[in-house]
Amino acid sequence: MEAHLIEMLGMLLRWLHVIAGIAWVGSSFYFIWLDGNLDPVPPGSEEAGKGVSGELWAVHGGGFYNSQKYAVAPARHPEKIHWFKWEAYTTWLSGTALLVIVYWMRAQAMMVDPTVSGLTPAQAVGVGAASMIVSWCVYDLLCRSPLGRRNRVVAAAVFGLLTLLAWLLCATLGGRAAYIHVGVAIGTIMAANVIFVIIPGQKRMVAAMRAGRTPDPADGARGRQRSVHNNYFTLPVVFIMISNHYAATYGHPHAWAVLALISAAGVLIRHFFNRRHKGARPWRYLAVSAVLFGAVAVWTAPHIQALPPVKGPVTLDRVRSIVGQRCVMCHSQAPTFPGITQPPAGVVLQGAAGIVQNAQRIYQQVVVTRIMPLGNASQMTDDERAVIAAWVTAGAPAQ
Ligand code: HEC
Repeated sequence: MEAHLIEMLGMLLRWLHVIAGIAWVGSSFYFIWLDGNLDPVPPGSEEAGKGVSGELWAVHGGGFYNSQKYAVAPARHPEKIHWFKWEAYTTWLSGTALLVIVYWMRAQAMMVDPTVSGLTPAQAVGVGAASMIVSWCVYDLLCRSPLGRRNRVVAAAVFGLLTLLAWLLCATLGGRAAYIHVGVAIGTIMAANVIFVIIPGQKRMVAAMRAGRTPDPADGARGRQRSVHNNYFTLPVVFIMISNHYAATYGHPHAWAVLALISAAGVLIRHFFNRRHKGARPWRYLAVSAVLFGAVAVWTAPHIQALPPVKGPVTLDRVRSIVGQRCVMCHSQAPTFPGITQPPAGVVLQGAAGIVQNAQRIYQQVVVTRIMPLGNASQMTDDERAVIAAWVTAGAPAQ
């Protein structure tokens, strides 16, 4: 019952997380797009007199909208101002809660990988938590340092540091957990940018405007820099959140480098759109990202590791006994492996029917990607993998 409640809680949190994330990424896309599409107002016009530096006309949902951007502060102080912050906080809070129940509470199954390092589950959780905090501190110091004023240098340094983080995590945790924790570190930087830099800066700007003072342009510049960083983080972070469906990426022997290539492609695609919305035709960014994806596709193509020859007949009974010993502790209606409370991915391998029905998926996981048994928790041997391979290649005979 308790396991079921946690499952339901996870379902609600995931739902909320995706919805809040859509709202957050959506507003990031929208405002950067809006900024890029503002037309200057004619000098001497009424708008220019009010301090409007640019405006945009749009039509949506049966009405016309006229957005205006003020260079510094409007002369008339609006009573009500919308702040865009709750979508960021909700995304981070729901994501962190999900991280705890999906990964940290099941660290033995979901984070530890004895083929990667000898960490205990508690140490693995420690590494995960530390990666969130340290990433933010290093990133924030970098932006505040004198280097922080040089946008390209900061961008390259942030990319390099996050790739280093991916490398460190891939050398300590299982591939899936390593990827997710890189995503969590980026998500934490994004949310912390909102809570610690963007919103406080905007509060000071609004307070100055209400007091009739000119807002400090440094607050505006700092907020804008962090918000542009967040915009470029969106595509890599969303890829990481769906990456657990693609074992070819996180299961690759150089998973950190695969992630760096895909993230670079994501950043370039974002850059393409940001430039395109300003009227440029920067097709080269799309071309480079296509080349990067091509490289990833070639580099992650499955090459099946050679397996020892099989001795004796390959029968379903033999496969059943291997699966019974190496998989059923997790893949049964009532798993016995610590932290696993439901058959993972709905795959039940207790009886012959379940094994035959899932033959192709078993082949993929055990022979091609070798992701299963997860972290080789049950120490499956190559001889056993060879039997599974021979059985599936023979058409998965039901006897
Ligand atoms: C330590 C627990 C554990 C063991 C042992 C284990 N698995 Fe899994 N398995 C998982 C988890 C967790 C998932 C879900 C991964 C996900 O959500 O994508 C999974 C998913 C799968 C899937 C579905 C993947 C897909 O998306 O198609 C298959 C097939 C599978 N396992 C086969 C096996 C086989 C065969 C064995 C034994 C050789 C095995 N597993 C051993 C934990 C385990």
